[in-house]
Amino acid sequence: MRSFAPTLSTLFLALSITSTADGHKRADPCAQIAGGLFAAPAELKSCLKSFPFNETLRQNVINVVSGVFDFFTFEDFYLNSPPPFQESTVDIRADLSRISTQIYETDYDFNLDLYNFVNRLNDGHTQWTPNCYATWENLLPTPIVSLEVDGTESVYIAPDSVAFINLVPSGFASFYASINFDWQRLAGARVLKIEGQDPYDYVDFIADTVTGNFLDHGVRVNSVFSSYRLSGSAFSQRFGDLAGQLFSPAENITFTLIPAESSKPENITVPFLSTFMGNQFTDSASYWENNCAANSGTNGVDRRLGSNLHGSPARALPVAVGRMPSSAIGLPAPFQPSLPPVVPSADVMRTYLLPDGKTGVIFVGSFLDDVDQFQIDVQNAVTSLKSSGATRLVIDLTNNLGGTVCLGIFLHQYLAGSSFGYSGFNSAVRANPLAQKIVAADIAHRITQDVSFYAPDQWTFVNNTVLPDDFNFVSPAEGVTINGQVDPTSRRLRDICSFSVPIPESPPFDLTNVAIVSNGNCASTCAMFSTGMYERHNTTIAVFGGKPGESMEFKGMAGNQVLEWTDLDSEIKTAGLKDDSLAPPDLLVSANMRHNWRTAYSFLEENTPIAYRSELPQLRFPYTLKTYNDPQNLWIFAAQQIFG
Ligand SMILES: *[C@@H]1O[C@H](CO)[C@@H](O)[C@H](O)[C@H]1NC(C)=O
Ligand SMILES: *[C@@H]1O[C@H](CO)[C@@H](O)[C@H](O)[C@H]1NC(C)=O
Ligand SMILES: *[C@@H]1O[C@H](CO)[C@@H](O)[C@H](O)[C@H]1NC(C)=O
Ligand SMILES: *[C@@H]1O[C@H](CO)[C@@H](O)[C@H](O)[C@H]1NC(C)=O
Ligand SMILES: *[C@@H]1O[C@H](CO)[C@@H](O)[C@H](O)[C@H]1NC(C)=O
Repeated sequence: MRSFAPTLSTLFLALSITSTADGHKRADPCAQIAGGLFAAPAELKSCLKSFPFNETLRQNVINVVSGVFDFFTFEDFYLNSPPPFQESTVDIRADLSRISTQIYETDYDFNLDLYNFVNRLNDGHTQWTPNCYATWENLLPTPIVSLEVDGTESVYIAPDSVAFINLVPSGFASFYASINFDWQRLAGARVLKIEGQDPYDYVDFIADTVTGNFLDHGVRVNSVFSSYRLSGSAFSQRFGDLAGQLFSPAENITFTLIPAESSKPENITVPFLSTFMGNQFTDSASYWENNCAANSGTNGVDRRLGSNLHGSPARALPVAVGRMPSSAIGLPAPFQPSLPPVVPSADVMRTYLLPDGKTGVIFVGSFLDDVDQFQIDVQNAVTSLKSSGATRLVIDLTNNLGGTVCLGIFLHQYLAGSSFGYSGFNSAVRANPLAQKIVAADIAHRITQDVSFYAPDQWTFVNNTVLPDDFNFVSPAEGVTINGQVDPTSRRLRDICSFSVPIPESPPFDLTNVAIVSNGNCASTCAMFSTGMYERHNTTIAVFGGKPGESMEFKGMAGNQVLEWTDLDSEIKTAGLKDDSLAPPDLLVSANMRHNWRTAYSFLEENTPIAYRSELPQLRFPYTLKTYNDPQNLWIFAAQQIFG
């Protein structure tokens, strides 16, 4: 975690006067907010909007973004997104063309438009992140939740808000104290309206304009609410996308609510405070230099040069990880599990035996870990649970961020046993003209999997045989027709995963006694793992939360593999193609344009990406006062419901 050392005086009172070229003295709008962790949104906006629109930068950014979209496997789906994902219908090229000519007042306005357009594709694997602006997040001291109380689901200000907000670095609460805003008394209030609308309607609005990330509307809705998670190895609680908004112009939100100790409705406008996650600065010039201008890490490298490889060349492992969701801080201690962990320490998972003595729980926070350690931790968890008498297993994937593709394949294989066969998916990449040149160049230069994802020996055929070094898997391309467009794609490919612990020959738990719980916010490798368990073993999945009466998928963000801009640019440079007319230029600003580079296809429907196959959980439950922020209570409830 970053260190927090803001003081209100440096935040809001420091006002530096600088001389401008024309001799007038004027306050530098960025100097006014320099040195702190928090800033009031209106003052922040004056700083961020002080950078003029620059046509050179716009054209540079659009060239990169549009070049990246050539590789985006889902582009043609967006022309007419199939139900139930029809909301995510966008003509990507038409929007890009509009943004490349529209008149903008400032660099901020251009970036906000581009950010919103890409964000509203609702694919967390495909994101424009300008570090100049998307390093500020607006926070509200009144996160919301949807709870069932006495049989009725309603929106509430999270009842644990006081304990939760008290874990935020002190500059946050002291800002509200300085303006005499009593947010503490709002904890647990029942929300009747937000911005004059029915609260669930306003939640829909946030889900469709702020959340992004997930094709499924139901999962986006759940992401608007505050929820628990495991971040690294620590329990934490998300603000949710209403109370935590990245790169947002919003300054406040008006609630109509009934405070917990009252019966009288009130209107209350709660101001946001912005928190900074970027590099320190003292004024506008240093803000731009340290946060907005391209730096040595912005673009890719030619990995054929030894000096560009850190340490010994290790095989690049495909990664599918969601964009870091909105801010989270610690889960207040009273709500953390009180049961003794069955395995004392593990990186990204926690393991418990429930009081029934039969149900083991493994809470897997992500698949982002040292690859050997993750496997050892799974082995320890399963072995210890079995020796403690567990005969059934609940895996909690709530807010799982995804991670290394092979670790999802490993967890599935470990639970299914070595005799089960390949536990991953068949996949493909786009075979656009530049991708075809890259693979041809990689083959000609004998480039191998240690430096390139386009190297044939990175993959196997669907019969599990590694591709020969000279096998061009994108040419000839296979034509797939999507929404009337013929999209050239590669041969079907599989991941090569080597496991560092022995896989049990048969399933360690009877697979009918294995279940998954989550809140649908299950990104990337998490989505592939749960889809695999569901499609291959009928694993029971119970999803919590969401909006009453609306369906929710269990897989939030299901691509297969993400390439960050640096990854794609490195592929181009390593193939010796940076000077090719099809290659996008280096970025001139500090930013990332990531994209979904590889698609996983359903095991049950070989031409449908798992992302576009609607698969609903067998069980759905609303959160209650006892379960929304208390994982142990949720597991005990879930085990009773699932196993009886
Ligand atoms: C626009 O940005 C480019 C690239 O950073 C820079 O060279 C140029 O001076 C800028 N133009 C103006 C008018 O500031
Ligand atoms: C709320 O924010 C808007 C700008 O979005 C501003 O015009 C308005 O004055 C703010 N209201 C309060 C009560 O702070
Ligand atoms: C809240 O504001 C709305 C719109 O301004 C108004 O109609 C309503 O009477 C107010 N409610 C309360 C409890 O003050
Ligand atoms: C696997 O499939 C490839 C491509 O279809 C084929 O060339 C190869 O001979 C197959 N290998 C085996 C062992 O069947
Ligand atoms: C899962 O359930 C479906 C429907 O009941 C059934 O058709 C299918 O064979 C089952 N699959 C497995 C792997 O048990």
